[in-house]
Amino acid sequence: MRKPFIAGNWKMNMTHLEAIKFLQDLGYSYENKTGCEVAVCPPPTALRSVKVILEDDDMDIRLGAQNMHFEKSGAYTGEVSPDMLKALGVEYIIIGHSERRQYFAETNEIVNKKVRAAFENDLKPIMCIGESLEIRESGKAVEFVLDQLINCLEGISGKDIMRLTIAYEPIWAIGTGRTATSEDANDMCSAIRKKLVSLYSEEIANIARIQYGGSVKPSNISELMGMSDIDGALVGGASLKVDDFIALINY
Ligand code: PGA
Repeated sequence: MRKPFIAGNWKMNMTHLEAIKFLQDLGYSYENKTGCEVAVCPPPTALRSVKVILEDDDMDIRLGAQNMHFEKSGAYTGEVSPDMLKALGVEYIIIGHSERRQYFAETNEIVNKKVRAAFENDLKPIMCIGESLEIRESGKAVEFVLDQLINCLEGISGKDIMRLTIAYEPIWAIGTGRTATSEDANDMCSAIRKKLVSLYSEEIANIARIQYGGSVKPSNISELMGMSDIDGALVGGASLKVDDFIALINY
């Protein structure tokens, strides 16, 4: 059985001081009635503070980062390596978010290198794929997303797939308030899982978790989580508000 997984992607929001305040506020009313796995993915400057608070307060929330380089070390000004994240207690790493693909020219090839580097360094990737509105309207969304999947997973073993989370995030639904219908989101997640069956095996495909992301909020999460192939959510905006984040966890 796949354990549901709700992850908050804070994007470029919150200084480490704001992050500390957020977690203190969260700690007051935190409860997890669904028993789902929960992660927060703050910007790199807040990772250390967030880790310390989660540990001190004994909160069962995992730490994730939003990006990393695929090399171990070297002359890459401004970049952060897998080792550096690991040393901070990071467990999850978001890779290939559409904002990174759009604004920082990340290709499937780069995403693939980062996914490999994550596994080599014992980090668990949350690998994002998803189509633009133009592609959705052309009727080629499934083809496009499966092509991203195949290219991003090149050379990744079945053993690693069992530790992978895939986040299906249609670009047109991110930060727009416009959510894919639960049926559409589930259809794509099912298509992704079927492709994993053909690339790996039924057993492996049934273990890999697939999240939906794009304007997930307290009002739509339970319907999404009720779908057969949606195992969780990658949440941006709504993960920045304490009450909303708690409501999401208790979908
Ligand atoms: P959103 O962002 O929930 O604000 O739409 C989701 C994401 O980009 O991961």
